[in-house]
Amino acid sequence: MTRRLFPLLLVLLASVLTPVLLPAGSFALVPAPRKVVAGDGEFRIDPQVTAICYRDDRLAFGAAWLAGQLSRAFDREMEAVRVESAPARDSVLLELATGHDLPPAEGYRLEVTPQGATVSAGDPRGALYGAVTLLQLGPAEAFRNLALCDSIPGADPGEENRQGPRWHRVQFPPPAPIKVFTIPCVSVEDAPRFAWRGLLIDPARFYVSLEEMKRYVDIMLLHKLNTLQIHLTDGQGWRMEIQGFPALMTTGALGVGNQPGNVRVYPRAGSKPGGCYYYTQAELKDLVAYAGDRGVTIVPEIEMPGHTGALLRSYPELLCQGSGEIKPGNSICVGQERTYEVLSAILDEVMAVFPGRYIHLGTDECWRGNWEHCTHCRAKMRELGVTNTLALHGYFVERMSAYLRSKGRTAAGWDEIFETGNKPGILGMFWRGHSPEAVRLVERAAKQGQLLVMTPTTHCYLDYRQAEDLSNDPPGLGNSVVSLEKVYGFEPIPDYLAPELQRNVVGLQGNLWGEVLFSYPQMLYQTWPRACALAEVGWSSPAGRDYGEFLERLKQAHLDRLRAAGVTFREPGPEDAGRP
Ligand code: ACM
Ligand code: ZN
Repeated sequence: MTRRLFPLLLVLLASVLTPVLLPAGSFALVPAPRKVVAGDGEFRIDPQVTAICYRDDRLAFGAAWLAGQLSRAFDREMEAVRVESAPARDSVLLELATGHDLPPAEGYRLEVTPQGATVSAGDPRGALYGAVTLLQLGPAEAFRNLALCDSIPGADPGEENRQGPRWHRVQFPPPAPIKVFTIPCVSVEDAPRFAWRGLLIDPARFYVSLEEMKRYVDIMLLHKLNTLQIHLTDGQGWRMEIQGFPALMTTGALGVGNQPGNVRVYPRAGSKPGGCYYYTQAELKDLVAYAGDRGVTIVPEIEMPGHTGALLRSYPELLCQGSGEIKPGNSICVGQERTYEVLSAILDEVMAVFPGRYIHLGTDECWRGNWEHCTHCRAKMRELGVTNTLALHGYFVERMSAYLRSKGRTAAGWDEIFETGNKPGILGMFWRGHSPEAVRLVERAAKQGQLLVMTPTTHCYLDYRQAEDLSNDPPGLGNSVVSLEKVYGFEPIPDYLAPELQRNVVGLQGNLWGEVLFSYPQMLYQTWPRACALAEVGWSSPAGRDYGEFLERLKQAHLDRLRAAGVTFREPGPEDAGRP
């Protein structure tokens, strides 16, 4: 070995042997902010002294949320107060920025000095995110009891919980309240990379209570995730009250979904028929408001024309002629006018409950075999002058999305929505990875100016298993592993998209399908910490992204935040250590 190579070898050896160090001033924030500059000293929040203030009524919720979380941390009541001007000291102030140097949408600036902390945001969501960052700068107890579910705060869930497989365990008991809450002096400038940072849950296959959905939203806020798609209907169950079609509740909503062996025993709401599991419109409106306050938009998914088994069990007259037995995968008859009347009336009720821009129509995995033989569908094909059922699917999608457009809404769908070409003003979700078919569809859709959310099975399917070794992990669905490292390595903008088309990619989404879920803790176990990785991919700059450093942030601080919040999660093991 030459003298010149020896020092180089020492450096290489040291880098292999030393654990990954967090960059100075990173503060283990998740998702990593755009810019953090560490200052000198610290600010101490004292529940008897510090005022939590806001200067604009639009920030009243954010300030109350922050005060509420600090109250849980100290186990002592703190309240938010409306002020006209910033107190000189001992305050945390949320304000909307003014002037021309406004933070981007959902962005914020956070200044912490020994005298106090100020969050200046471009909009209420940004203020909320500034408050989350402020809490993350403090001890893990800042998130104490944030997302407790299914038990009494502080109560031990008991021996049964301790004996259960780790993915069915409730994460308890919470840490003791704290007396001292200090945050380092810093200056943070932050804004998201993508506008759509979503998760999907699937109560059609695995029913969860309204409270559990609210707790799920709480945890999303902790990660600055802003969109929750709810798969409300499928062959296994119809989960939304539709007043014009009562059989959807008495027949479509029967049973908890895909799993007869569900480990949960659900309380039966007195107002609902026995054995029927659905959300009333009042409950869903409550959820929409709850999530909206926390910066989360709910996107309802009402599946059509495939995956309509629960609808067809309720209204068999919408089956194709000659279909015989109703199977979960049945597709609705798209040849009858009655189908369009029913679906439009259902969507009217859906739109009255969900005020967001997007209504998701599914459109995926539609089995079209029954359309081939149905008199109505064949007549419709003749009328349209088309010779194959794929074109009939295209007609159906075009007609239903035009209906939504006429009401001022936008249809979203899985990537099958683009199979028959451009549908103006539709948002498509790419789930079929990088198959040649998907690549062709992505390129064509982007060229036609359509908006894309990337959610490939390979990186974003949270129902897939998390590790190769299943001796201590639930099997999950799918035939591949979606590890934490894999998720963290996801790049939503495909390298084959020309630079001028890349802005059509508006974000990413993790999908937690419900077929193989058995408990709410398992739902969380499948989600976290993989969704921490997704949140960072959606929020933070890809420059310098390093899985080892991310894992270190999780281990040093973030998993403790989840523990304090009462969130069940999968502890990363040696298999998650990352490639050397
Ligand atoms: C899907 O997984 N069928 C969207
Ligand atoms: Zn038909």
